[in-house]
Amino acid sequence: MTTPKKLFIKTYGCQMNVYDSERMVEALGGEGYVETKSADDADMILLNTCHIREKAAEKVYSELGRFKDLKAENPNLKIGVAGCVAQAEGEEIMRRQPLVDLVVGPQSYHRLPAMEKAVQQGAKALDTDFPEDDKFDTLTKRAKTKRGPTAFLTVQEGCDKFCAFCVVPYTRGAEVSRPAAQVLKEAQELVDAGVREITLLGQNVNAYHGHEKGLAGLIWALDKIDGLARIRFTTSHPNDMDDALIEAHGTCTKLMPYLHLPVQSGSDAILKAMNRKHTAESYIRLIERIREARPDLLLSGDFIVGFPGETDQDFEDTMNLIREVNYGQAYSFKYSTRPGTPAAERAQVAEALKTERLANLQALLSTQQRAVQETMVGREVRVLFEKTGRQEGQLIGKSEYLHAVYADAPASLIGQVVPVRIIANSPNSLAGQCIQ
Ligand code: 5AD
Ligand code: SF4
Repeated sequence: MTTPKKLFIKTYGCQMNVYDSERMVEALGGEGYVETKSADDADMILLNTCHIREKAAEKVYSELGRFKDLKAENPNLKIGVAGCVAQAEGEEIMRRQPLVDLVVGPQSYHRLPAMEKAVQQGAKALDTDFPEDDKFDTLTKRAKTKRGPTAFLTVQEGCDKFCAFCVVPYTRGAEVSRPAAQVLKEAQELVDAGVREITLLGQNVNAYHGHEKGLAGLIWALDKIDGLARIRFTTSHPNDMDDALIEAHGTCTKLMPYLHLPVQSGSDAILKAMNRKHTAESYIRLIERIREARPDLLLSGDFIVGFPGETDQDFEDTMNLIREVNYGQAYSFKYSTRPGTPAAERAQVAEALKTERLANLQALLSTQQRAVQETMVGREVRVLFEKTGRQEGQLIGKSEYLHAVYADAPASLIGQVVPVRIIANSPNSLAGQCIQ
């Protein structure tokens, strides 16, 4: 028997990259690789990268620099860059860092086995095509090994919206949806391997059109899978929240009451400059409708401060929108210029002002987040236990609202949805007691 080669893969960025990394590990599994948790003993290192903000992209080069010594010790070590930086910068990566053997974009990683063979022969391999062949058709079935209770499942990729700040339409290409039958088959494989909760992923997941009834149609089809307890989806654009999807939040019991619905700004002038094609008012009306369908829904959002042209008043409008909506969870960023995007060419807001605005915005958001968590204390939630906690006899899982909850419980409850009473609130999690 040949000893397996070891693959170390490091994932940056969004959940779509987490999913892609799993599939890359599976694809290279066919070439005799097993995953290792340390770069030190690896035969191949893959960085699955993110290009969304400048800092994310720069991390790749500093990380690659650190592999110099490893390559000196082990000349057979192969180093690859995958993901969105690979897509955006392609050959430039090999020019900037000659240590790199392989560059593969997010739409071509089903070709990794052939690329791996080429680099073993001493060649350099680059593939950043948007190929005609469907990677999901080529990739093998999901690995049969037993899995944890939660999984991501990419159902849609790319984006046609062209927000003026965003690289995604360039790195991930045009919107493409996987056919519902293909998604349902993969979901069944995941459930057969022990998965109880599936999060459907897409850069614009609610624009999914691989089912004749859109994302809502896919959710209802998944709802029929025995053994699947929970469905989530992310990330959505406000303009694609159709009536059927809003209604599903009220009527589909497997669909969890949590929605990530980025608005980016609360100023109509900035929303227009961002090419968002909605207003602050239309977003707030939409939230009202979703909350009518599911009153206890926990809302999450993304915000950018310091977009070119953002005045004090524009920023105040964003703060006011946040006050009106009341978020249970949020992600916020300083605007970062991305090469090739329209906003990169515009006059920029001073860095110090961005920093100040971000601090104010995050203070407001974390006050809201804490207050929403506080309302959970005393309430009964349902927790899907995922793993053991730090303390003996403790399990950690997620409530339907995606709060991390820990409670004393036997390990046999991992993978079960259990009623839990919340007894305390701490900054990043809730403490609970099982009701049984
Ligand atoms: N600068 C800062 N934040 C950005 N995002 C996307 N592009 C940029 C950028 N150029 C944020 C948006 C998006 C999230 C994934 O990242 O808020 O929703
Ligand atoms: Fe980053 Fe966007 Fe690529 Fe995800 S899709 S890794 S967020 S650039």
